[in-house]
Amino acid sequence: MKLERPDSRGRFGEFGGRFAPETLMPALEELEHAFEAAWVDPGFRAELDRLLKDFVGRPTPIFEAERLSAQLGFRVLLKREDLAHTGAHKINNAIGQVLLARRMGKPRVIAETGAGQHGVATATAAALLGLECEVFMGEKDIERQSLNVYRMQMLGTRVIPVTSGAGTLKDAVNEAMRDWVGTVETTHYVIGSVVGPHPFPWMVREFQRVIGDESLEQLGEDLPDVVVACVGGGSNAIGIFYPFAGLGIDLVGVEAAGEGIETGRHGASLGEGSPGILHGTRTYLLQNADGQVQEAHSISAGLDYPGVGPEHAYFQDLGLARYVSITDDESLEGVSLLARTEGIIPALESAHAISWIAKAAGELQGKTVLVNLSGRGDKDVQQIAEARS
Ligand SMILES: Cc1ncc(COP(=O)(O)O)c(C=O)c1O
Repeated sequence: MKLERPDSRGRFGEFGGRFAPETLMPALEELEHAFEAAWVDPGFRAELDRLLKDFVGRPTPIFEAERLSAQLGFRVLLKREDLAHTGAHKINNAIGQVLLARRMGKPRVIAETGAGQHGVATATAAALLGLECEVFMGEKDIERQSLNVYRMQMLGTRVIPVTSGAGTLKDAVNEAMRDWVGTVETTHYVIGSVVGPHPFPWMVREFQRVIGDESLEQLGEDLPDVVVACVGGGSNAIGIFYPFAGLGIDLVGVEAAGEGIETGRHGASLGEGSPGILHGTRTYLLQNADGQVQEAHSISAGLDYPGVGPEHAYFQDLGLARYVSITDDESLEGVSLLARTEGIIPALESAHAISWIAKAAGELQGKTVLVNLSGRGDKDVQQIAEARS
């Protein structure tokens, strides 16, 4: 059964928890209590709802993808998170956490970012609410997502390059956590996905479940047979899955198979990983026999992470959702497919979900499939052009 919230130790079954340095424990407890209080405070909820509506542009529509449906032979609906302000679902969580930081009296926020979408979302929320903002970003991601680096800078955020490790998302999280240990009195760390120590996976799920709650309301009796979403850390997927879980709907998470599962260069933590601890939480990880965390690989910076949100680990073990994977090349085909049939250029991350429904067309015949289109592809145009040349 899905859990309304994790247990008193912050666990979803055997996953999750709070494996953090002593110096962070008081801040994590303070955050848990602040979120608990805010989440039941009608004033906080009203302010968040107002910003989601008037600033973010929610509710995002559900779009009947007629030409794609005709081509694939089954009905495809798209939840248009790409139409949310700043271009992805990440803003739902960023606005929530920055509002919470302001309520907690913290003048500064920090964030990590991979694709840059969470960094842009946090920079945007910080500008809107008047907080100082710094974003940690791996060097490799700075290169492949340069557009988002300029966007953050325009919003008044300082982007701090991370040179350790592979210069990707895992390394950016490490640096952000290191900063937070030393600045916790004045700073809130806005984690960008359903990862990290308790209460982050729960809190971020609650901020992202607006995607699924809204979809249920928009669809009414017309429920889909299948709901599909890409999985990096897992926030857009759990956001749409959670309200649908337990309704007998097939929930499918699509991880990055990168250059191919058999090459070892991928980001399929649920499909290929094993339980371990990373960034303060117990979950499925890509690790070697000695427990050393491996580098992930994906063409899409947002799926390039060797772990995954602990609630997905729990969902997988309980059979509440299933997890599949799509390669870099297949995701590029997904971009073209959606662009040419529907006039929508998806983010490379979201294109993994599109590509999977095309690949699984045989088993999806006669079904209604709701795809969470987590973001738009403007940030990826240069990278896609390079990959194709
Ligand atoms: C558009 C888009 N989709 C998906 C993701 C993956 O994150 P998550 O799995 O937390 O939704 C990202 C991350 O940057 C993103 O930018």
